[in-house]
Amino acid sequence: MQENKDKKLEELVSQIKLLPPERIPLHIAIIMDGNGRWAKRKGLSRPEGHRAGVSAVKKIVRFAPQVGVKILTLYTFSTENWRRPADEVKILMNLLRETTFRELDELVQNGVKLVVSGRFSELPLAQRKALEIAMKKTAGGDVLTLNLALNYGGRAEIIDAVRKIAEKVAGKKIEPKDIDEKLFEEHLQTAGLPDPDLVIRTSGEIRISNFLLWQSAYSEFYFTDVLWPDFDEIELCRAIIDYASRERRFGGI
Ligand code: IPE
Ligand code: IPE
Ligand code: MG
Repeated sequence: MQENKDKKLEELVSQIKLLPPERIPLHIAIIMDGNGRWAKRKGLSRPEGHRAGVSAVKKIVRFAPQVGVKILTLYTFSTENWRRPADEVKILMNLLRETTFRELDELVQNGVKLVVSGRFSELPLAQRKALEIAMKKTAGGDVLTLNLALNYGGRAEIIDAVRKIAEKVAGKKIEPKDIDEKLFEEHLQTAGLPDPDLVIRTSGEIRISNFLLWQSAYSEFYFTDVLWPDFDEIELCRAIIDYASRERRFGGI
């Protein structure tokens, strides 16, 4: 079984290596969905599903740079996920803090730079502290940028940007005529990152769930029925190869 998988992966990687560089998605954003259903199918608890989800994250973060990916944005916790039962929110937050500390050395070693998009100041203090330490320690990483979308919502992000810009106008720092796409993007939580080339959603749901509303204007979308804990190197290769076959026109012909 494992041997077959290794062989399959080797095949897919060599297929990707043959692609022209402009066919590789430099920035992949993933809606990691299906941890709960994965657990249910296996007769496990939801927290066990989330733990398995973290293992999938580790696999993908290690592997992505090997196939030319430079930026990985992972939808980790949405502004709407606070609606979940308090004990599940607590488990997710604990998992976030523990994983940040446990993986920090490996992230540094592998040249992974950790950044966060989302309403950071609304996260619990312990999580903010862990993330701040990790962001500081990994700031020099130049192999992969790992952007965690945490307490992230596309609408909240746009509202926050509008508010910041409105304050600048009110303070006479800029004029309304200065507001263009470039200035707007500089006020988003993803400022400095290019738009995602490819957005992947696992678990068979075909919706965007408030993810990267502005940034995905011209992204390619890839939906798979695979549940997030089962998403592995082979599945990522499949998504990349599918992306490589697309014709991106950006409104042209
Ligand atoms: C994704 O898995 C993880 C988060 C949203 C934090 P879910 O917890 O949404 O899993 P399902 O959708 O219930 O299967
Ligand atoms: C989207 O998944 C959010 C994350 C993956 C963090 P959800 O499970 O929260 O999305 P909905 O509720 O099915 O739209
Ligand atoms: Mg879900």
